Amino acid sequence: MLVALTGGTGFVGRHVAASLVARGHNVRVLARDPARARLLSDQNVDVVAGGLADRAPLDRLARGADVLIHLVGIIVEQGAQTFTAVHVGGTQALLSAAREAGVRRFVHMSAVGARDDPGATRYHRTKQQAEQLVRDSGLSHAIFRPSIINGPESVPIRLLARLHRWSPVVPVFGDGRFPTQPVWVDDVALAFALAAERPDTVGVFELGGPQVLTYEEFLLTIGRATGHSRPLVHVPLGLVRAAAGIFDVLGSAAPVTSDQVQMLVEGSATPANAIENVFGIRPVTFEEGLKRFL
Ligand SMILES: NC(=O)c1ccc[n+]([C@@H]2O[C@H](COP(=O)([O-])OP(=O)(O)OC[C@H]3O[C@@H](n4cnc5c(N)ncnc54)[C@H](OP(=O)(O)O)[C@@H]3O)[C@@H](O)[C@H]2O)c1
Repeated sequence: MLVALTGGTGFVGRHVAASLVARGHNVRVLARDPARARLLSDQNVDVVAGGLADRAPLDRLARGADVLIHLVGIIVEQGAQTFTAVHVGGTQALLSAAREAGVRRFVHMSAVGARDDPGATRYHRTKQQAEQLVRDSGLSHAIFRPSIINGPESVPIRLLARLHRWSPVVPVFGDGRFPTQPVWVDDVALAFALAAERPDTVGVFELGGPQVLTYEEFLLTIGRATGHSRPLVHVPLGLVRAAAGIFDVLGSAAPVTSDQVQMLVEGSATPANAIENVFGIRPVTFEEGLKRFL
């Protein structure tokens, strides 16, 4: 098939593109930055220059494609890159291009916890709004809601690994008991490729690893994998929230934002994990995944 992809230059997108190429598909990727796209062209991936804000590149991306995989997402707003513009506006524009080009199937990246209630972060609310657009699109679709994704290019996991290497102690937010269910990036990439290939797989699918870990266990596992286990120091949540509130003004340079703290504390376990039941993937454990790159 010809599979068109947004977000292919990102952490998850590079693995999704590689998985599709390995399974024999032709892959076309939308890329804003030619330098980042060069890595993909070396892997026989066709590149369409442009972003979600312009319609013409989206039409070029969708033309002749059998499936469109939409991975673009942001975790911090910057200038015109607001959650609403990117998650909602971007998805709307891409769905419109997909329908006009006669694309048969749409595979969409959301996130665990996506919901539209007023207490949710804007990240989660706009992810939910984008999901609704996909559900209402009339296209055959699969929507994925992964927990935290583990892999060599994960910025937060790399940051925590560096902290274990260089800091005498590692901070834990609050009691550190909030649940996570980290999922290996290549397991996620394979689920996307399988969903692209199986038009009968329709609906919303949560993706998580094989174990639920508390945030404290998550940090201890990273410490073991780096070979530098450090004492954990609990920092009261009120203090963490106050610090994150100050960091918010730094935008994408913030080490952690208020929304990220809220989402961490809400937890990201996936009780309805589809990775094995629906996709038949035996998921890699967090520790095994970390050992592959740390
Ligand atoms: N990482 C996780 O743990 C995790 C967990 C759950 C869900 N997700 C979701 O998975 C998706 C991918 O995440 P990631 O970790 O791979 O993020 P990432 O590394 O930051 O990649 C984001 C991708 O989106 C592209 N992009 C951003 N704004 C764009 C725009 N306006 N137009 C076109 N492309 C744009 C980026 O392109 P450039 O290269 O040009 O910047 C990049 O390819 C996101 O939707 C995210 O919400 C991630």
